[in-house]
Amino acid sequence: IRVLAVASEIYPIVKTGGLADVAGALPAALKEHGVATRTLVPGYPDVLKALPAAETLLQWPEFYGGPIRVLGGTHDGLDLFALDAPHLFARPGNPYVGPDGRDWPDNGVRFAALSRMAAEIGQGTLPSFVPHVVHAHDWQAGLVPAYLHYGRQPRPGTVMTVHNLAYQGQFSPDMLATFGLPQDAYAIRGVEYYGTISLLKAGLQFADRITTVSPTYAREIQGDDGGMGLGGLLRERAGVLRGILNGIDLSVWNPETDPHIAARYGASHLATRAANKAALQRRFGLEPSGEALLLGVVSRLSWQKGLDLMLETIPTLLSEGMQLALLGSGDRDLQDRYSALVQAHPGRIGVVIGYDEALAHLIQAGADALAVPSRFEPCGLTQLCALRYGAVPVVSDVGGLADTVLDVDEVAMEGGAATGVKFAPVTAEALAHALRKANLLFNDDVTWRRLQHAGMTTDVSWNNRAGQYAALYRDLIAARQAAQ
Ligand code: ADP
Ligand code: GLC
Repeated sequence: IRVLAVASEIYPIVKTGGLADVAGALPAALKEHGVATRTLVPGYPDVLKALPAAETLLQWPEFYGGPIRVLGGTHDGLDLFALDAPHLFARPGNPYVGPDGRDWPDNGVRFAALSRMAAEIGQGTLPSFVPHVVHAHDWQAGLVPAYLHYGRQPRPGTVMTVHNLAYQGQFSPDMLATFGLPQDAYAIRGVEYYGTISLLKAGLQFADRITTVSPTYAREIQGDDGGMGLGGLLRERAGVLRGILNGIDLSVWNPETDPHIAARYGASHLATRAANKAALQRRFGLEPSGEALLLGVVSRLSWQKGLDLMLETIPTLLSEGMQLALLGSGDRDLQDRYSALVQAHPGRIGVVIGYDEALAHLIQAGADALAVPSRFEPCGLTQLCALRYGAVPVVSDVGGLADTVLDVDEVAMEGGAATGVKFAPVTAEALAHALRKANLLFNDDVTWRRLQHAGMTTDVSWNNRAGQYAALYRDLIAARQAAQ
């Protein structure tokens, strides 16, 4: 099976969040299930740099306002198509926002062009790779199913994956012609969304299949709250919607071989892990102590992640004798408030504002527990890394967090199945209670080891999950053939 994936970021080339991790890891896992994936990405400067030997597969003098090329090449095992469109993508830095921190004003055109090119390739424009299925990720690729719906037939099957329903890609209705959509597409059962054009809605409306990144989130987004304005549409399309959990790339996240940590270890030899805790304490200016529970956080700082709630639990954390090491960036206000805490409680709270891949690994390897108090979480990857690294996850009971962590009260502790602590509702009180509970468990060595061990031996790989995507593709192809 040939699949064209379409994504606006891909690890290890461009990454702002988990979408890049998924786009970067899924193709290799799919190969094991007989699926050959090529991924179409925007030709940002970093992408072009990563493809020095790329071949020009197509060249057009005019495409959404300028000349373009489609390049084909490989990087780090990934088979890539890059849409080289200097007028749209030759901008350094973050893929979505300019140096002023605001969305690029032409984001609609930029990602319409990406989506249109995906549809072109889907319809056979590159004879060397004619896909059976085009798989669109998030709003940036939302127009792919719409273009293929309105475009020339035959067409490949389409899958739309929602990584985060909070980002919908809304643009002015005046853009309809620029996007190249017919007038009748601007309708309730089309791309219209409360007087705007929503690119994510376009994808959800017209895709043959919809997936999201956990079964619980698949249910939550059909509700009025979780649906964020699209719940009705998702309820209507429930028959073609399902949740498939993310995995993590075990060649990147492996404590036995990780080059970013102070000492390597594994489930059967945990003793050396202590050296990572000591290194982490040094790095964050924390008091050297094996006894204090060191709580880690690796996160974007945004409302979604609930880290404002954690600010309210700092008194609990301190009175329990715990330490905090937080790595994150995002909201200015949260950055400032966390930085101020370091001044107030030196040695107990350490904060690094920024994005630092290597440090994220050290936190997973050195923290005793990892907090993920998200208000909503489509899947979440950091708790999967934490499980793998023996940092016991303390998570809110939502979305993919609910599906990937087994709570100490939910399953028999004696059976050794529990892997973490969950709390609900998502409030500061419930989080504080969970932190106290974690500290109690931490003070019981045998119990804590059992939690760590159960987490570290949990399957968080892509293997099974990629199999579910492969089955979905096969099913879709068969259904389309039967309908012809
Ligand atoms: P989201 O995509 O919503 O941000 P995920 O948990 O799915 O959340 O994925 C986040 C990814 O980004 C993980 O791979 C995590 O390790 C990484 N990450 C988040 N913040 C940072 C940071 N400040 N420094 C390094 N890595 C980070
Ligand atoms: C989004 C979600 C996160 C998910 C990631 C990858 O960024 O916020 O929960 O893990 O996409 O699917």
